[in-house]
Amino acid sequence: MTPQDLAKRQAAEAALAYIEPGEVLGVGTGSTVNLFIDLLAERRLVQDIKGAVSSSNASSERLKKIGVPVLDLNETGELSIYVDGADETNPRLQLIKGGGAALTREKIVAAASRKFVCIADQSKRVDVLGKFPLPVEVIPMAQSYVGRQLVKLGGKPKLRDGVITDNGNVIIDVHGLSITNPVELETQINLITGVVCVGLFARRPADVLILGTPNGAQTIL
Ligand code: 5RP
Repeated sequence: MTPQDLAKRQAAEAALAYIEPGEVLGVGTGSTVNLFIDLLAERRLVQDIKGAVSSSNASSERLKKIGVPVLDLNETGELSIYVDGADETNPRLQLIKGGGAALTREKIVAAASRKFVCIADQSKRVDVLGKFPLPVEVIPMAQSYVGRQLVKLGGKPKLRDGVITDNGNVIIDVHGLSITNPVELETQINLITGVVCVGLFARRPADVLILGTPNGAQTIL
């Protein structure tokens, strides 16, 4: 394992303490979440949970492989916790997400959960969001129009080549932003016709951030 993978694993391991026995767990997407799912099997915690609501087809497959029932959010009601990674986090636990193109379902599951536990290695911590290109999920026929509106907001939009989301849409990555007012930018991008979802999690930030290092994890509330 690389030092970064070890750091991710430390964060994933610390998140196990947040699991509430008998509850349905919200599970996100990405390499850090994959380590979390692997730990559920390794630590024999699969039987402790009722099932999981997943934010992507990839995570659903991984959960099913270890015997976790994957449930429909419409059947479960509110979830107690949602565990997911991030591409960037600022000190207010506002996030950029969507590097794995799962941002829309991630935002839905986060919205439907009482507690959002974000797990990441320490390299994801920044003072100002925006160095990581901001992912925006867009209805395919609107991609040029949305791109022009994103330029007006000061960004440099770039279509993510060859990627179609689980919802059948495209991803535009917006480069060159320095996001000093994340709530305002999230609202502005949400208002562009043709945008399905923006990967800024500012209106609903994480509640708990677990930042991993190769030697341990730090929890920030
Ligand atoms: C997927 C995401 C992921 O949480 C984000 O990309 C972090 O991934 P990783 O854990 O692989 O660093 O938002 O859409």
